[in-house]
Amino acid sequence: MARFLIDGGYPLEGEVRVHGAKNAVLPILAATVLNGGRNVIHDCPDLKDVQSSIAILEFLGCNVHREGSTLFVDSSRAINEEIPEQLMREMRSSVIFLGAIISRFGKAVTSTPGGCELGPRPIDLHLKAFRQLGIEIAESHGYITCTADNLHAASIHLDFPSVGATENIMLAASRAKGTTVITNAAKEPEIVDLQNYLNGTGAKIIGAGTSEIQIEGVGEFHDVEHTVIPDRIVATTYLACSAITGGMVQLTNVESSHIEAVLSIMRECGSKFYINGSTLIHIPPKKILPIDCIRTQPYPGFPTDAQSPLMAVLTLARGTSIFVENIFESRFKHVVELARMGADITVDGRMAVIRGVERLSGAKVNAMDLRGGAALVVAGLAAEGRTEVDDVGHVDRGYERLENHLTKLGAKIKREQ
Ligand code: UD1
Repeated sequence: MARFLIDGGYPLEGEVRVHGAKNAVLPILAATVLNGGRNVIHDCPDLKDVQSSIAILEFLGCNVHREGSTLFVDSSRAINEEIPEQLMREMRSSVIFLGAIISRFGKAVTSTPGGCELGPRPIDLHLKAFRQLGIEIAESHGYITCTADNLHAASIHLDFPSVGATENIMLAASRAKGTTVITNAAKEPEIVDLQNYLNGTGAKIIGAGTSEIQIEGVGEFHDVEHTVIPDRIVATTYLACSAITGGMVQLTNVESSHIEAVLSIMRECGSKFYINGSTLIHIPPKKILPIDCIRTQPYPGFPTDAQSPLMAVLTLARGTSIFVENIFESRFKHVVELARMGADITVDGRMAVIRGVERLSGAKVNAMDLRGGAALVVAGLAAEGRTEVDDVGHVDRGYERLENHLTKLGAKIKREQ
């Protein structure tokens, strides 16, 4: 895998555009199977996970091509209802294809997504909801076969507001007879984007963004053109880079209401923000102030995906900060790597205590997962000397040409194969 070489200590200054949201585009790409027609998706970042989704779409029989940041998906000739294990392995979130394939073909077969870098990632909520929709599920030899001869609407209460389960239900229920109601649904902006995309194809969904979503099944879908929302975690990562290096950065294509929880915490750190439409100017703190306690929560709470980039910033705060990770149990893998750079962090179960240090120093570190890898880049930009971040393929899953954008902002970073 490739690595980043970063010479730290240069303040980031200038303007950068935030690309379309990975977590919005992945379910939308899965959903393109549903309409059996043409889909034009604008602001679709060229990410590793997007490429994995395209590989699945092509395997299913869809025709896909890209022009710049626009992706054209024609699903009219899709014939396959099975995703082979190899393609499932490349991306855990491929489980989201299940709902779309079931809806289109009445049947779907995939391998079970096993554990991943964030710890076990169960799909029990997805499967329980599918059963409520009349879908029969058979699991054997690591494969799940879903058969929907009797697909019907249902009232589904999610025990936890799972993002993926909410999306899968929206997809599977879009063609189910009657009106499906999801209560305790996830409220993430990406769910709203999926609703907008699906309604653009002829679906009848209301309520996304609240805890109750209603999906009235329809029989006919049509062609659609859709622009993906800006990536709130990429925006957060740039803000972290700006804060830790003490340079003023202007972000364009930001939906600031989507990152209110992050902005609120960063204001406590001493950051100032000027927001004008989709442009956000960040004035970094002169001294980074610590935060008593940040708890990751489902939206609109502080996002788990922003935990590691913000933790990198807090390693240089003037005092002690605490993170409580409530969403994924194994999301502290970057801590050991940050410690190699001189950070002082103690982890106890789901809690990390970060005692701010005077300086970080360059070291050879490993990106263990997507956001943890991004945190190491953030830290490397401020560390004295050279930081070598290995395995940046993880980072490429969620950031489009990150090193190019950071270089434009004045960072000394290069990729080495
Ligand atoms: C999505 C995001 C991911 C983000 C996460 C939480 C995508 C592609 N990924 O992941 O970046 O970190 O939301 O905001 O959008 N759970 C179960 N059973 C299930 C499903 C989930 O126990 O059937 C648990 C998970 O183990 C986890 C929690 O629920 O502890 C949240 O998972 P979920 O909201 O489903 O996250 P993802 O959709 O996988």
